[in-house]
Amino acid sequence: MSGAAMGNVNRVDGPAKVTGKAKYASDFRGDGLLYGRIVDAPIARGRILSIETEAALACPGVVYIFTHDDQPSLAWLERNYRDQVGPDGSPFRPLHDDVIRFSGQVVALVLADSLEAARHGAGLVRLRCEQEAHATDLEEQRPESFEEPDSRSGMGKPPEPRGDVGIALVEAPASIQERYSTSPQHHNPMEPFATTAIWERDGSLTVYDKTQAVMNDKKYLTQVFGFGKDELQVLSPFVGGAFGSGLRPHHVAFLAVLAARELKRNVRVVLERKQMFALGFRPPSIHDLQLGATAAGHLTAVAHDALGATSRFENYVEQIVNWSGGTYDCPNVRLGYRIAALDVNTPCDMRAPGAASGVFALESAVDELAWKLGMDPLEFRILNHAAKDPNEEKPYSSKQLLECYRQGAERFEWHRRGHDCGSMRDGSILIGWGVATGVWDAMQVPSSAKAVLGANGKLTVSAATSDIGTGTYTMMAVIAARTLGLSVDDVVPQLGDSRLPMAPLEGGSFTAASVGTAVQKACLKIRKRLIRLAKDLDGSLLAGVDEKEIILENGRIAIKGDASRSHGITEVLQRTGTKEISRKTLAIPSLLKQRKVSIKTHSAVFAEVKVDEDLGTLHVTRVVCAVAAGQILNLKTARSQIMGGVVWGISMALHEESVMDHAHGRFINHDLAGYHIPVNADVGSIEVIFVEEKDSVVNPLGVKGVGEIGIVGTAAAVANAVFHATGKRVRSLPITLDKLL
Ligand code: MOS
Repeated sequence: MSGAAMGNVNRVDGPAKVTGKAKYASDFRGDGLLYGRIVDAPIARGRILSIETEAALACPGVVYIFTHDDQPSLAWLERNYRDQVGPDGSPFRPLHDDVIRFSGQVVALVLADSLEAARHGAGLVRLRCEQEAHATDLEEQRPESFEEPDSRSGMGKPPEPRGDVGIALVEAPASIQERYSTSPQHHNPMEPFATTAIWERDGSLTVYDKTQAVMNDKKYLTQVFGFGKDELQVLSPFVGGAFGSGLRPHHVAFLAVLAARELKRNVRVVLERKQMFALGFRPPSIHDLQLGATAAGHLTAVAHDALGATSRFENYVEQIVNWSGGTYDCPNVRLGYRIAALDVNTPCDMRAPGAASGVFALESAVDELAWKLGMDPLEFRILNHAAKDPNEEKPYSSKQLLECYRQGAERFEWHRRGHDCGSMRDGSILIGWGVATGVWDAMQVPSSAKAVLGANGKLTVSAATSDIGTGTYTMMAVIAARTLGLSVDDVVPQLGDSRLPMAPLEGGSFTAASVGTAVQKACLKIRKRLIRLAKDLDGSLLAGVDEKEIILENGRIAIKGDASRSHGITEVLQRTGTKEISRKTLAIPSLLKQRKVSIKTHSAVFAEVKVDEDLGTLHVTRVVCAVAAGQILNLKTARSQIMGGVVWGISMALHEESVMDHAHGRFINHDLAGYHIPVNADVGSIEVIFVEEKDSVVNPLGVKGVGEIGIVGTAAAVANAVFHATGKRVRSLPITLDKLL
């Protein structure tokens, strides 16, 4: 398989989605369904003195109200539990005690026969609180309260320093020292979090939950409520976007299961949009960068200190500064990362966690240094390209970043760029061009998968992973079809069900590499069996032929280059009386090979902005994103992933910001009117280039993943273009009009 994509088909779940047949978590129904409405805390820190529920309970239709006072059978909450991806600390326990830890925290769940009654009842619940002083402003935190990340997994821990940054900076003929910052952001998927819990007569539960991780969800709920192994199933066949917000189980699922179990009823709980702003979020970050270079433009020093935010009850960490030591070849590097605890909910992963913000800071600083040297910022990056991973001191499994720069620049026509700020204009419109590098990890984690080929030639492939809109269903179908020479239409992919074979959550851009490899492996086993059956047929045309000479194509088992000698797959199954061939496999990364190399995806992002000189209005008119991510499985969905990431990068640069009212410790723009996301008019042309990159080490498919790389570097490319247009360097995102005037 060359650099060309393995497939280029429409999303296989597309028709179900556009015809409304696809069912999301809140679309499932059950007899006598109860509707849950959450009452949340209005203060950021304090204690609940009392919750008055009489008026609400007197409302027609209101059935029950859960509060921390009413937890007769919640003794299990004392158990220490943790979900698969929870950071160090003590996970939030809904309705556990009278402590208010963040604004918007759930304090009661009202259940009623109708959504309207539940909403009305929730409005009548009276809460008396004792308020304590809270801290929500990262800028105001005192350094003595900062903590080093101390994670079990080593996540977020920067690599050891190398060389001597202090001396290198003093000696560097050119250097910069600047502070950059990014704003908090909320994921805001189209579909809010929702859970429908169906109570079965035998006391077991079927839970339809919006999640990126049915297995993680199942494990958490099973542990927390003490269910037996098969007493609780989690299903999540369709997810309306998640971007990391669905990696950890939410209180919505907890509350729905609690109510269903206690009341022995079917229960649905849905969050309002504003309640989505009380979930985990991309934390704000502050970055101090110092870079030094020789007069010829060779980087000699990189110092990057980042400050992130976490909650008071968990230490959320990201890989935020590591990129600054690994992206360019530089002998003297010192990286530091600390977190400060605020009175907020625990932040959580959001598309390219850490890299989206850390690489913004690095790539802005790199641009500033290139300007200081009077160099073309692309040339500066090419000059400092790292042929080996400087952090890990290992060769790359593959790295076509230079080709990304070359092909991206060619498509963008970078050579036409005027060197000076404001040198490209169209009347009163200033035009600016910027570039940035993107980098992300390419990971593979263990996954199993099952493939079942029926006598009718239809193939089912399944794994307990998710498709959060990224195209996992399609990717599974393309791999299976390609491996067995079937049409994509003959493959039925199944996922989003905890009863399916063990598979990872959908995240980290590792699903294609992990689940895809397992699907391929299961299909290869079926292939082997099919060839055996075909060769053993009475009067087989393939008898005695070496397996290496056999191909599966167009539903037939044939000899390479000799179409006349073949048997149809269904013919083979039927003539041998085979009802089905079923194979289950576990695919684990080959760590022996992988340990010796550094495995990353790379990109080069080019952006054009147009700024109205008089009004300060700013548009991103053009982005070219050239990506090296190994084998591309399905061109159409992969391209959509990169475009989505680029749109978000533009959005991070110009629009998105969760605004905290520090007086109340609450995010105040908690709806899609106040929280700006780009619409079509905000996004100009986006061109995606997949650079050919062969990699036989990452996994048998050569796949690195494309879910996150699209956002990395994009915000910096836009900010760098803004500088080129206007001569104004905006170092805190988002770049709003007031910062340009
Ligand atoms: Mo992604 S932030 O790993 O869902």
